Amino acid sequence: MTASRTIGLVGLGTMGRSLALNFRDRGVAVLGYDPGEPARRAAADAGLALAADPAGLVAGLPPPRCILLMVPAGPAVDAALDELSRHLAPGDVVIDGGNSHWRDSERRAARLAAAGLAFVGAGISGGEEGARFGPAIMIGAEPEAFARVQPLFEAVAARAEDGTPCWAHFGPPPAGHLVKTVHNGIEYAIMQALAEVYDLARRGHGLELKAIADLFESWQEGPCGGFLLETGIRVLRTRDPETGRPLLGFVRDRAEQKGTGGWTAIEALELGVPAPTLVEAVQARSLSAVAVRAEFARLVPRPAATGPVGRPEDLEGALLATLLAAHAQGLAILAESRRARGWPGPPAAIPRVWRAGCILRGNLLAPIVRAFERDPELPFSLLDDELLALLLSGLADLRTAVADAARAGVPVPALSASLAWLDGLSSPRLPADLVQAMRDRFGAHGFERIDRPGRFHDLWRGARA
Ligand code: 6PG
Repeated sequence: MTASRTIGLVGLGTMGRSLALNFRDRGVAVLGYDPGEPARRAAADAGLALAADPAGLVAGLPPPRCILLMVPAGPAVDAALDELSRHLAPGDVVIDGGNSHWRDSERRAARLAAAGLAFVGAGISGGEEGARFGPAIMIGAEPEAFARVQPLFEAVAARAEDGTPCWAHFGPPPAGHLVKTVHNGIEYAIMQALAEVYDLARRGHGLELKAIADLFESWQEGPCGGFLLETGIRVLRTRDPETGRPLLGFVRDRAEQKGTGGWTAIEALELGVPAPTLVEAVQARSLSAVAVRAEFARLVPRPAATGPVGRPEDLEGALLATLLAAHAQGLAILAESRRARGWPGPPAAIPRVWRAGCILRGNLLAPIVRAFERDPELPFSLLDDELLALLLSGLADLRTAVADAARAGVPVPALSASLAWLDGLSSPRLPADLVQAMRDRFGAHGFERIDRPGRFHDLWRGARA
């Protein structure tokens, strides 16, 4: 076992075990550890070598060691780091491969550095199948630690169509987890947009689930095609083995969340980046879980039925414009972080690493990659000619879909937030003049004039003309 082709893996749940097998298949020696008996048994059954405890894991690895944590984000990561750092030696590297908050990764990196240990924050996307056969890996690490882990990630990462492995180094330890968090924020938005289009097709256009699956399938080769659309089609086509009826009809309409979508929304708010599609996707999950819904639904009448103006096939354009908005907003959050903090970068590497292996993989990534390859300093993705042309091809359909939804009383928060965002960004003049003037009226906050430079204040006495 050479140190550079050996990895220790803590946490042998589904993701950890799948990654361990992926490493093993790629010629990387793996020594695993998990405190839970069922996980240990499953790993042993899969033929993985196991250590009895953390001390045994560290003792069983050739120094300088590299240990990957695949434990739930939060206190479990700190507990594992505490335990391991008692046994590790200076020069060893610990990678957190979970969905951790970047601020935690920053704190953990500083703590480990004080003990001479290196911390790597790695966002790993692709679910169980990705972990087993090739995930996308978003890495945050100091250069020396990165050089250590790069060959290991290179071995297991997914390959894009052009053969490039889907890992990228985005800067210091917290950078990888920030990129993964925003990846998840976009993931929430795509899922919400698909759900809204499904709802509009069903309640607005009266389509059966099978017809919606056929409609979605007809989009799979186009710009909206990708892993999440395919997942939606599978779900729509699945039948309940007991009743033979569509399984989706039995699923409670309450969407759960583990936090990364919310972190993306908070990041947007903290950095002052407008990202309403991403925010609404999180809020829609929260709204689905509001307990008073059933009671409130009995109190508020549904609007009188008026048929939709758009055709079901036009929903593809509405979806496309929303997906472009979601990606543009996520990339804008990361661009603002780069401006404020110096990472994550380089910009083109972000969409490039999402091309294969991860949940976002889809046809839209290729034109986004091309946009940043044409202009690595592109300040806003939709300024690119190719992306703008795609957006404009769907914008009128988005407007029709949102209007149809409003008339039918079908909530489409991601679609309508995207439209409002696009209308706001493309408005030569916004009503922010009134907001700014009112701020000055009651708070003397001052305002700028459009006819001369400087800062002004008025008492806004409001005399009738
Ligand atoms: C991935 C996924 C994965 C998971 C998220 C979101 O990239 O493989 O993003 O990490 O889907 O944890 O989970 P929630 O929907 O539960 O927040």
